[in-house]
Amino acid sequence: YVIGVDLGTSAVKTLLVSRNGTLAAEAREEYPLYHEQAGWSEQEPEDWVTGTIGAIKALLADSGVNPADIDGISFSGQMHGLVLLDSENKPIRRAILWNDTRTTEQCREIERALGDKLLAVTRNPALEGFTLPKILWVKQHEPEVFAQAKSFLLPKDYLRLRLTGALHMDLSDAAGTLMLDIAGKRWSEDVLQAFGIPSSFCPPLVEAVALTGTITPEASESTGLATTTKVFAGGADNACGAIGSGILSPGVTLCSIGTSGVILTYEADASADYEGKVHFFNHGQENAFYAMGVTLAAGYSLSWFRNAFAKGESFDALLEGIGDIPEGSNGLLFTPYIVGERTPHADAKIRGSFIGIDGSHTRSHFARAVMEGITFSLNESIAIFRAAGKRVDTIVSIGGGAKNPLWLQMQADIFRANVVSLENEQGPGMGAAMLAAVGSGWYPSLKACGDDFVKQARTYIPNEEASLRYERIFGIYQEAYGQTKGIN
Ligand code: XUL
Repeated sequence: YVIGVDLGTSAVKTLLVSRNGTLAAEAREEYPLYHEQAGWSEQEPEDWVTGTIGAIKALLADSGVNPADIDGISFSGQMHGLVLLDSENKPIRRAILWNDTRTTEQCREIERALGDKLLAVTRNPALEGFTLPKILWVKQHEPEVFAQAKSFLLPKDYLRLRLTGALHMDLSDAAGTLMLDIAGKRWSEDVLQAFGIPSSFCPPLVEAVALTGTITPEASESTGLATTTKVFAGGADNACGAIGSGILSPGVTLCSIGTSGVILTYEADASADYEGKVHFFNHGQENAFYAMGVTLAAGYSLSWFRNAFAKGESFDALLEGIGDIPEGSNGLLFTPYIVGERTPHADAKIRGSFIGIDGSHTRSHFARAVMEGITFSLNESIAIFRAAGKRVDTIVSIGGGAKNPLWLQMQADIFRANVVSLENEQGPGMGAAMLAAVGSGWYPSLKACGDDFVKQARTYIPNEEASLRYERIFGIYQEAYGQTKGIN
């Protein structure tokens, strides 16, 4: 067996996986988010550890598996979160998370200090969610706290530290710090020097599949895992989502609709130039990369809509009537900017809209328009990839958006690409389990593991008539951003 741990923002999910990728057991535990001020989002690192211990214990109890039969464990982690450690590797404050937006000023400072080097070296623009702006914020606003900081980790690296006692960071997660030389696969001297960060502050870099240690006696005691179980580095949740969906060779693209939505393309090398319009990060697969556009409120837009207008109802009940409504929701258009937008606008202030309301519209029209608006936003990322010369013909769709056949067909029609759903899709946790499977020597490569673990279910083919209708509305959707920008 292997274990995949998916350390998410609202919960940790653990998967026990046997040979051929069969799911033997799963368990999850939730933990709180702290929003002390508007725009702040923090978590207690100890909560991740307690939650993971609980979930691993439940996994072992439910499955009855002998811990000695678990070869390896690995991790998928929420990206960018800053965990500051003192000289004894203890957290000195709560972690500041990826969805915390307090660092706009630090982002401008980074742009000023690094100029063209920022994009050339880190391959990404300075965004509030990334780690370096958070480090600078603590340095400026909590100097007495920062004085104790000797090093930093990302969320899943801290969890791993508590299991192995060793500090590491894998490349796919380090890529989201804005301190990594992405193509060179090393901490960027230029960035560290510009901000007076000593190299000892940055943990040793390893590949996602690397062996980082075994379970310490103390962690064995608390989790029930054997001290012989090998611990592999793991990767960023988006990299692990790609691995777990078989995005392991050129030509396949991923669409993931969870709270946020992602369009991610596999990049065999670092040569593609999207001019910073999409994120560009190291893949969990050695020497590979991925480019990614993000819609901040994807599934979140639909959850918001349900909570506001259909509280207590299931998504199935909410979406029941949408199949009877034609493409374009009879002229009703939604822009999903309810918490701002990343791709393509990188605008934390823009807000969403419903446009074209008609007296005949029902709640089902609004629900369908929300789904279409989310899909249009993701299509803007696809448009960026295509404009840069990338072929996007086949898209594997995962997450909440892949649970509804009508939404999958809508994706095929709007994206003008074949959309593939997966059997028993488990998201990033399965990618983490695959890293443990390859690390444990079950397969010679992630690709070979993916051929065995990842099974395609159904392909949705675009309907030309529907695509043409959506194409016209997409043009209006793209204009809505500029027209609604000044509204608040
Ligand atoms: C990616 C990002 C989110 C987090 C969610 O840049 O901020 O997808 O990784 O965990």
